[in-house]
Amino acid sequence: MRSNYHNPVLLKETVDGLAIKEDGVYVDVTFGGGGHSREIMSRLGERGKLIAFDQDEDARRNVIEDDRFVLINENFRYIKRFLKFYGVKKVDGILGDFGVSSHQFDVAERGFSTRFDADLDMRMNQKGSVSAYDVVNEYEETDLRNVLKVYGELRNASAIAREIVSARKTELIKTSDQLKEVLRRFLPKFKEHKILAQIYQAIRIEVNQEIEVLKEFLLQTPDLLDKGGRLSLISYHSLEDRLVKRFIRDGMFEGKPEKDFYGNINVPFKKVKGLVVPSEEEIKENNRARSAKLRIAEKL
Ligand SMILES: C[S@@+](CC[C@H](N)C(=O)[O-])C[C@H]1O[C@@H](n2cnc3c(N)ncnc32)[C@H](O)[C@@H]1O
Repeated sequence: MRSNYHNPVLLKETVDGLAIKEDGVYVDVTFGGGGHSREIMSRLGERGKLIAFDQDEDARRNVIEDDRFVLINENFRYIKRFLKFYGVKKVDGILGDFGVSSHQFDVAERGFSTRFDADLDMRMNQKGSVSAYDVVNEYEETDLRNVLKVYGELRNASAIAREIVSARKTELIKTSDQLKEVLRRFLPKFKEHKILAQIYQAIRIEVNQEIEVLKEFLLQTPDLLDKGGRLSLISYHSLEDRLVKRFIRDGMFEGKPEKDFYGNINVPFKKVKGLVVPSEEEIKENNRARSAKLRIAEKL
């Protein structure tokens, strides 16, 4: 289903990954336009249940009117707490389609897109306390450099951070056009969009603490999933994908899991299939799909 709000990526593959049981309980932690959620609902029976999360209040307009569905307008970093509040202790599958929706990119005032001039914002949760303005105008130069280097994978992160810090001493950088002007010399014509997109991505990940949130979320999943329950997760950034991949393999983000007395490794998941990526056809239809990486795991 095509929607103006968001066109779901790897729709069939991601929902197939959940191996839906008709009377199962599922969670979609990134509801957005509800494309994946609607597909899950279409596979549930009368006794099935779907609980969805989205921290963006705009996502509420896509709510599914159905007794088997609940939308929680909160950050999925608190998944366990909110599921408990709704009386849910164990679930049969969790779907995540991380990052931002097309809607968030398309509304100029949200500040996510390099296409428009807007106030520096980029908060997925409109009530969030840190915006792109704070990162650009308040961060120490070294912190800004790290954000640009690690999240934006920018080779000249140091020079870009220096330029921002020097410019904001004369005048605070309030809008995306101002930021573009400050960074003009780093944006050669033929690469302007690509580099700007990397800078925006880095700031967005920092504003929304996307890496920390992903880790906190992943660490709660083994406890929440019943044996045989599925994780079906789409990432769009190499850092995210690496975290998901390692967590599925080792149950941790760094290092190697310890072996027990008998040499067995105690890990919470087994992977189902290898990496799944969109077909060329899907990418041609939906350019946003180009960097998607889907990983599926089963709780042991
Ligand atoms: C790529 S879109 C998901 C699109 C959705 N699968 C669909 O089919 O329409 C990601 C959504 O997740 C939400 N989101 C991202 N991080 C979140 C978080 N930590 N907590 C809650 N929602 C989050 C965003 O606001 C956005 O609406």
